[in-house]
Amino acid sequence: MKKDLLTLRDVSRDELEEIFALAARLKRERGKVAYTPLAGKSVGLIFAKSSTRTRVSFEVGVGELGGRALYLDQSKMQVGRGETVADTARVLSRYLHGIVIRTFSHADVEELAREATIPVINALTDEYHPCQILADVMTIREYSGRCDESVKMAFYGDGRSNIANSLILSARLTGMQLVIAAPEEERPDEALYAGYSNIRWEADPRKAAEGVDYFYTDVWVSMGFEEEKARRMKIFAPYQVNEALFELAKPDAKFLHCLPAHRGEEVSAGVMDSPRSIVFDEAENRLHVQKAVLTMLLAPAEREK
Ligand code: CP
Ligand code: NVA
Repeated sequence: MKKDLLTLRDVSRDELEEIFALAARLKRERGKVAYTPLAGKSVGLIFAKSSTRTRVSFEVGVGELGGRALYLDQSKMQVGRGETVADTARVLSRYLHGIVIRTFSHADVEELAREATIPVINALTDEYHPCQILADVMTIREYSGRCDESVKMAFYGDGRSNIANSLILSARLTGMQLVIAAPEEERPDEALYAGYSNIRWEADPRKAAEGVDYFYTDVWVSMGFEEEKARRMKIFAPYQVNEALFELAKPDAKFLHCLPAHRGEEVSAGVMDSPRSIVFDEAENRLHVQKAVLTMLLAPAEREK
């Protein structure tokens, strides 16, 4: 694998298979078979934004792999007081074996990775959230047995969000059929899917639901976009994932959400809390898939053991 995981562009198809094979094994063997490839290694978790799943799954995951996780609140670091990203990268590379970072600017994470001599894992930027989407694809593979051109997903809401962007990159890798149902104002960036006939934008929420296997949505107001709340609540309102959309989909269609969810906004309470909702399996898979990624990036020689 490349040194870092910044977006799914950093993962080849073969590496994707390797990640899922290891993640499935770690999931099966969790609590039964000791596996400590990160023994003696320390991983810094830098967070500039809120988190429940990402923080806890990385802290627990590093610990289960035998390593030590350090939670670093970015607002309490010197980088928040003018120290450069590059100097931070050089210093942390002297102490740590890997960095997991959640922040606003994707360019900052690219710079951190460029200057650091240790692997950097993107735990969400304004533009991408690769760890989430790896867990989503793992979940689809568990439910459908595969995630390829035979699977159709419709994502509803912000077509330019970190989740939408990363889903597009995942569809490029897997071949899954992906429809992004979004209003014109927040339609996906065409440059991301130019040349990929399995990926398209659809403004009509009902048309996007036809024949769908998986509905996916995300909050209408992502972290850092709070001042746009009024505009966003208005333009995304027709794109709520609700029972009416499921009527148009495959009979056994399922519901995915990266979480946190806002019932009554991007998803109806009825869908979120129905048996069609597999969001907690999806959240659990964050742990397993990230343990696989940590092993492959930080202890590649250990991954076959
Ligand atoms: N889905 C996700 O990344 O959740 P957190 O913001 O709670 O980490
Ligand atoms: N798009 C959301 C994802 C949260 C996991 C956000 O960036 O806030």
